[in-house]
Amino acid sequence: MNMAFSKKQWADAETEGSGMTGSRQIIQVEGLKKAFPTPDGKSQTEIFGDVWFNVAKGEFVCLIGHSGCGKTTLLNILSGLDKATEGVVLVDEKEVVGPSLDRAVVFQTHALLPWMTTMRNIAFAVESRWPSWPKEKVRQQCQKYIDLVHLTGAEDKKPAQLSGGMKQRVGIARAFSIEPKTLLMDEPFSALDALTRGSLQEELLSICRTTEQTCFMITHDIDEALLLADRIVLMTNGPEARVCEILENTLPKDRTRSNMHTHKNYYPLRNHLIEFLVNRSKQFKEEVSSSSYDPKHPPVVRPAAEDDSKKPELKEVSVS
Ligand SMILES: Nc1ncnc2c1ncn2[C@@H]1O[C@H](COP(=O)(O)OP(=O)(O)OP(=O)(O)O)[C@@H](O)[C@H]1O
Ligand SMILES: [Mg+2]
Repeated sequence: MNMAFSKKQWADAETEGSGMTGSRQIIQVEGLKKAFPTPDGKSQTEIFGDVWFNVAKGEFVCLIGHSGCGKTTLLNILSGLDKATEGVVLVDEKEVVGPSLDRAVVFQTHALLPWMTTMRNIAFAVESRWPSWPKEKVRQQCQKYIDLVHLTGAEDKKPAQLSGGMKQRVGIARAFSIEPKTLLMDEPFSALDALTRGSLQEELLSICRTTEQTCFMITHDIDEALLLADRIVLMTNGPEARVCEILENTLPKDRTRSNMHTHKNYYPLRNHLIEFLVNRSKQFKEEVSSSSYDPKHPPVVRPAAEDDSKKPELKEVSVS
């Protein structure tokens, strides 16, 4: 079945801009392009280009796309670890020119210092953020986030003494402990088994709701994106990847991993994302040539969104 967006669908898609309207924008990505030199050094390969989107204060945005479309490269530019070929990233209206403690990053692998305990790994970040804090205040700040990620009791263990999920928890606690303006995450749970991943997703969601943390996260996992994200940026395949559209998550805010599939919007949202990853991410160039696509205002879509008052309640179910 050809599910490419028709002209009518493009026209119907709300084009109210690439960010959540009405809220203060914390991350602004404006016309970003990244090109790398070809192996012979004679020309350049554009990985992605003309990328525009925003993340509002307290919002959780996921970016989904196939391997190689430039997700990590984009996140490295957002964090200040890499430079764009064209375009700018603003965080709280200041241009990103290098790494900053305003932007915490959680990598796919834990990136902990192997000779330091859990407490020291986190304290190292807290001391860098607030150099004048006395030792006891640093310890209390670390303990608060160690407790939040359920690592109480593992304070004195070194990374080699922790499981993969525990190490990722330390990375998350370290990122939250510096109370950054933005939390950037590059597939933080992809190396974990399904059960650990599920519980960490729920912990992350609960901490984000409590702290109203602004988050930008890369993922391959559709259910992870639907659980965590308020909006999902859909990136087409590379090279020359583009933001195809931005999907608004129409599931209720109080969704959980065990009940979100009971909501009538779940399958339309999920099917839309699967259709994107299976077909549309490859066919975007044909799709876009017959539309009024504007990269500065990628279409904002709300699959299955109807009158909110008619939405059924989420049902609590138990899953093993
Ligand atoms: N330093 C570099 N020099 C040349 N090409 C690079 C460099 N870094 C990344 N690339 C290329 O840029 C493209 C995007 O890489 P990137 O790691 O951002 O992809 P990704 O979307 O994160 O993939 P994955 O889902 O597998 O992690 C790839 O084709 C990669 O080979
Ligand atoms: Mg990557």
